[in-house]
Amino acid sequence: MTGPTLVTAARTAVKVRAPAKVNLSLHVGPREDDGYHPLITVFQAVSLYEEVVAVEADDLSLTVTGPGAEYVPLDGTNLALRAARALADRTGTDRGALLEITKGVPVAGGMAGGSADAAAALVALDALWGTGLTREELAEVAATLGADVPFALQGHTAVGTGRGDVLTPAMVRGTFHWAFALRAEGLSTPDVFRHFDEIVGRGRDLAPDADTALMAALRAGDAPRLGLALSNDLQGPAIDLAPDLAETIGAAANAGALGVVVSGSGPTVAALGRSHQHALAIAAEMTLAGVCESAVCASGPVPGARVIL
Ligand code: C5P
Repeated sequence: MTGPTLVTAARTAVKVRAPAKVNLSLHVGPREDDGYHPLITVFQAVSLYEEVVAVEADDLSLTVTGPGAEYVPLDGTNLALRAARALADRTGTDRGALLEITKGVPVAGGMAGGSADAAAALVALDALWGTGLTREELAEVAATLGADVPFALQGHTAVGTGRGDVLTPAMVRGTFHWAFALRAEGLSTPDVFRHFDEIVGRGRDLAPDADTALMAALRAGDAPRLGLALSNDLQGPAIDLAPDLAETIGAAANAGALGVVVSGSGPTVAALGRSHQHALAIAAEMTLAGVCESAVCASGPVPGARVIL
């Protein structure tokens, strides 16, 4: 006698959310021949999310809504569409999908919103198409799409090396509370790296143990020590290209932030608070000082791209 047959209804829509990141440290080495820079960075995923709903369809297509949606490309350069094509190529499927993206991460803000879209699209389509890929195989596809996509998939807190795509999870105690100052106009990541090259040239190598104090602060859940250890080699170049960022950083420091750093290639400024209430106070002070377009609070670490419906 055979057992009961398990019948699972094929899913016709999958909703996934994927987090923004902040770089707690970002050490940039000299540009290599492929145009990329070797990095040593510590990423933390924070509770600002992109949402992607993948709906069964014959072809691949895309809609984008939410703050800054008008700046997101809808053509083949869109990272979520590229993720869909890469997953289809990898698995050999001829199925399509409509990807409905809702932005919750600042566009061109240095918080990897586009990478979060790509990671969310991979997880959503993996479920919709039933590809059966492992999380490691999905991460391989993610790495072909951009340096920050593997981290958006993995989340939590991790050390990134290589281009930022080779990840080692970091041990963290507790939750950290952030205020993020958003700038009306974004910065282009390639432009900021190019300006870094102009300033630093090829003369500086990466210090492998640069983050000892930062990692100790994370392990201890010690926000004041973490605040002191925040650093970003792209901060100087980002401020050169957007000088008003210096005022934003000053306003966060005046509000008693434990540490302030430009996130990734900017222009979002991340300020660490003592508590959620303190982060709210820093956000209010930055907004009242008129040094940013708006400010939002978030906490980290949080998990990477996950199916929520
Ligand atoms: O990998 P991703 O497409 O996110 O990178 C965007 C741009 O940022 C690259 O084209 C490159 O100019 C710059 N970049 C870099 N070195 C890295 C990561 C990004 O120069 N490690």
